Amino acid sequence: MFTEPYARFAEVYDSMGADDFSIKMTEYCRKIFRRFKINPCTGLDICCGTGTAIKKFSELGIHMCGLDRSAAMLAVAAKKLKGHRVTLYQKPLPRFRIIDALDSRKTRRFDLVTCFFDSLNYLKNQRELGQAFKSIYIHLNSGGYFIFDMNTPAAMKILWGGQVFVKSSPNLFTVWHNEYYPKTKSAKCTATFFKKKGTTWERFDEEHLERAYDNRTIKKTLRDSGLVVKGFYRCLSFEKPAKGTYRICGVAKRPV
Ligand SMILES: C[S@@+](CC[C@H](N)C(=O)[O-])C[C@H]1O[C@@H](n2cnc3c(N)ncnc32)[C@H](O)[C@@H]1O
Repeated sequence: MFTEPYARFAEVYDSMGADDFSIKMTEYCRKIFRRFKINPCTGLDICCGTGTAIKKFSELGIHMCGLDRSAAMLAVAAKKLKGHRVTLYQKPLPRFRIIDALDSRKTRRFDLVTCFFDSLNYLKNQRELGQAFKSIYIHLNSGGYFIFDMNTPAAMKILWGGQVFVKSSPNLFTVWHNEYYPKTKSAKCTATFFKKKGTTWERFDEEHLERAYDNRTIKKTLRDSGLVVKGFYRCLSFEKPAKGTYRICGVAKRPV
C-alpha cells in the first residue's frame, strides 16, 4: 500500500541528507545573483519541501514565502522556520495562486521565484509544465527572476532507469527501485522505507513519478509563458548542458 508522495518521506527527508542539494542550489543562486546583478527583496520557493532553501534565502535578507502541495513537508518546514518571518502556502502546481494580502483581487508578486531538486519533473506533461510557468510569470514582479533545476531525459534513462539504490543507517533502511518509460521520458521510483521504532521496524512505501523534457522544449515552454530565457546551464555550473547532462538549471526573467 503506497502513501501519498512525501506523506511519510517528509519525516526522514532531512535526516537522510535529501535537503543537501537545496543548500548547494542556494549557494549557486548567489553566484547567479552576481552574474545577472539580481538583488531580490522578496522571494517565493515553490515545491519548497522542508523549507531549507527558504531558511538560507531568509538568512541573506530576502523576505521569503514557500509553497508546496504536501502538508507533511510543510509541517517540517514550519518547524524549521519558526522565528523567521515566512509564510507557507499549501497549494498545488501548476495552477497555484497566492492572493495579495492588501487587495484580494490582486495576485501576490515576488522579485524571485525558485524551484529546486527536480520538483518540476513531477508535472505530468508539457501542458502542465506550461501552466506552471504561466503561474510563475504572474507571480513575478516585472524584471523578476525565476531560477530552477530539472532532471533531464538522460537522468531518467541512465540514473533512474532500471536502477536499485539501497541506503542504510542505524535507524533507517531504504530501497529505491526505478523503472524508465522511454515513450514519455518518464521514470517511476518505488521507495520502501524501514524506520526503527523502539525495538521494531515500521515499513512504508511511496511511488514517485517524474517526467523529463529536452532542453529545447523547456526553453520554448518558458518563452510561450512570457518569460525570457537568460541562462540555461549544466546545473551548479555556468557551462552549456551537454548531451549526457543529468540536471539543468534555467534562469528566466519576466520582462520589464
Ligand atoms: C524532491 S522534493 C524537493 C523539495 C525541496 N525543493 C528541496 O530542494 O529539498 C519535491 C517537492 O515538490 C513537491 N511537489 C511535487 N509536485 C508538486 C505539485 N504539483 N505542486 C506542489 N508541490 C509539489 C513535493 O511535495 C516535494 O515537497
